Amino acid sequence: MKILKNLSQITVSKNIPISKAVRKISFHESGVLLILKKRKIIGYLQEGDIKRALLKNNYSHETKIEKIMNKKPFTIKSNLSLKDKIKKLKINLRFRAPIVDEKNRIQGLLYFTNFTQLSDKQNYHFKTKLRKKIFIVGGAGYIGSVLSRLLLKLNYSIVIYDIFKFGISPVKDLMKNSNVKIIKGDASDTKKIVNTALGSEAVIDLSGIVGDPACDLNPTKTIVDNYINSKMLAEISKLLKIPRYIFMSSCSVYGLAKGKKKLNEKSKLNPLSLYAECKIKAEKDILKIKDKNFCPTILRLATVFGYSPRQRFDLVVNIFTLFATTGKKIHVFGGEQYRPNIHVSDVAKAIKLVLKAPIKNVNGEIFNVGDNRLNLKIKDIALIVSKLNKLSKKKVIIDKSSKDPRDYHVDFSKIKKTLKFTANTNIFKGAKELNAKIKQKKFRNINKVLFNNFSIESKNLYN
Ligand SMILES: NC(=O)c1ccc[n+]([C@@H]2O[C@H](COP(=O)([O-])OP(=O)(O)OC[C@H]3O[C@@H](n4cnc5c(N)ncnc54)[C@H](O)[C@@H]3O)[C@@H](O)[C@H]2O)c1
Repeated sequence: MKILKNLSQITVSKNIPISKAVRKISFHESGVLLILKKRKIIGYLQEGDIKRALLKNNYSHETKIEKIMNKKPFTIKSNLSLKDKIKKLKINLRFRAPIVDEKNRIQGLLYFTNFTQLSDKQNYHFKTKLRKKIFIVGGAGYIGSVLSRLLLKLNYSIVIYDIFKFGISPVKDLMKNSNVKIIKGDASDTKKIVNTALGSEAVIDLSGIVGDPACDLNPTKTIVDNYINSKMLAEISKLLKIPRYIFMSSCSVYGLAKGKKKLNEKSKLNPLSLYAECKIKAEKDILKIKDKNFCPTILRLATVFGYSPRQRFDLVVNIFTLFATTGKKIHVFGGEQYRPNIHVSDVAKAIKLVLKAPIKNVNGEIFNVGDNRLNLKIKDIALIVSKLNKLSKKKVIIDKSSKDPRDYHVDFSKIKKTLKFTANTNIFKGAKELNAKIKQKKFRNINKVLFNNFSIESKNLYN
């Protein structure tokens, strides 16, 4: 509990724009601004007032705070004892209040500095009110729809911001959860992003065109969606004083590696596609703007596999699983190339660890996300998956003449050491779970374009 007597740090003019108020409010632990006239309070502004105003369409960052301030704030009389003042805050479920004398002149600001000082009822009220908000761009996708559910379990409140390329159904059941806000919007819509991301603890960027073939279909759109949007999202996050920004990159930035040495975060990059090139450019520009108040972290994901409410069947383990489950042959092109793998729920776990890590451990850092035990040759992945349904080995066809140029053996020691991350799900377990979902007929019309990123991009391009 604190009484602030020197109010100059939190006193502002009624004519300042919301954008300035946002910056000022985040500099003081009380989380409030006062507007005074002849020592009397004519306005009172909390973070929540700003958020509510920005969510209404008729207010913008240029709006003067006079239009949104609370003109009749709750106050406490200075003649009460400290004990009674605190009691009054608690009874009224307030976290803070200005103290005024008998003539309503401001004397100070009383506020709690520590939640242990709150009553149970107050605690519940504030804990639910002050859940940390995580803004997930691309939150309805393959990884996003798994991550969203994990963050809700961890008591975060989330905003799923997405253009819903694959529809809203992967997150539709979350709509009734009061801790979820679902917003349809494009990552390039800066105004919408500013208005909806304000007050977040972190922005997680999972958006863009995903995968080499899908990106090659429309290079200009790929550069905008995968590079410019991500760089801009990071810049907006910094401007809004959002402390953390997590960007999803890919191990494909390593491309073809010469020699057998495992690639770590400091290894030379060798992009073989526009997808990988855009990831590298975005990584560099995002890391450039880090400072002690803005903590960007880059996650270079291994190839993801496993079941998600937004299923993909264009990823190596998932395609092989689909073939194995439906009794088809598994064709392997080349087979000797190494590919690192990671289960989709382990990606969500890695993101959680970054969110919870001390800033000093993740600020400006790049992590390969995977597990050394899951670095496998493609032909070995096919053989593991072929054990599902006791598929005959004869059904794994290895075409040695064809060779995929992407071959990388990645080192995941840094994430293990810094964040204590190891994968919970191996390939067989993940494939088995997906195999069961296919058998349960979880996916209607499994050959639909919705399950394949290349197909959806070509449909959008040619329709
Ligand atoms: N899945 C993998 O194997 C893998 C591997 C490495 C990196 N990654 C990266 O992880 C991230 C998520 O991948 P995913 O597999 O979940 O892909 P996904 O295609 O399933 O999800 C992307 C989501 O972003 C949304 N989106 C796309 N463009 C948008 C835009 N302009 N504005 C708002 N929303 C937009 C889509 O509607 C979709 O819901 C991507 O950045 C991807 O490059 C994925």
